Amino acid sequence: MSTGSVHDQVSISELSWWDLDEIADHDAAIFGPTAWTLTYYWAVRAQAGTVMFAARTATSALAGWIVMSTAGGEADVMTIATTEAGRGQGIGRRLLQAGTDWALSRGAEVVHLEVDEHNESALGLYRSFGFSEWGRRPDYYPGADAILMRYRP
Ligand SMILES: CC(C)(COP(=O)(O)OP(=O)(O)OC[C@H]1O[C@@H](n2cnc3c(N)ncnc32)[C@H](O)[C@@H]1OP(=O)(O)O)[C@@H](O)C(=O)NCCC(=O)NCCS
Repeated sequence: MSTGSVHDQVSISELSWWDLDEIADHDAAIFGPTAWTLTYYWAVRAQAGTVMFAARTATSALAGWIVMSTAGGEADVMTIATTEAGRGQGIGRRLLQAGTDWALSRGAEVVHLEVDEHNESALGLYRSFGFSEWGRRPDYYPGADAILMRYRP
């Protein structure tokens, strides 16, 4: 086990309204033209059946976040990201675990997501976590299919 990494110092907790400005800024930097706007974050945060978790270092620096929704026994990973400094240290996995634990605690029996077919890091995370591919949406993203994945614990 490694010691002293960012991962060791990271804690995960539910996002607050006042975190959304910071999240939207990071989202824009990571996702560019497909980023969620601050207004969209506010709208999602206001929906029943959604949750947002943040991963923060010991100095409260943002290391990543996840947004989940659940309804009718099914859940969705709406978005997930880690900051560049936080990547490859297990933080994405911890966020996904927190999100799926939350969904399961609310009665979800399956967790869905969609991912750009060229997004190797996200595909690596989801496959490693136990998600499996069940379909595709052709040209869902500019120049790329969406791979549809699901996870049944
Ligand atoms: C996808 C993302 C969240 C992964 O976060 P991360 O914190 O780096 O992931 P972790 O360190 O927890 O790694 C978890 C697993 O993913 C795999 N993985 C991570 N990066 C990978 C890469 N570049 N290529 C292949 N697999 C990768 C790891 O191998 C690991 O599996 P293992 O534990 O079996 O070795 C991060 O790369 C990211 O924020 N990307 C930009 C935003 C994005 O694309 N979000 C997903 C939208 S669908």
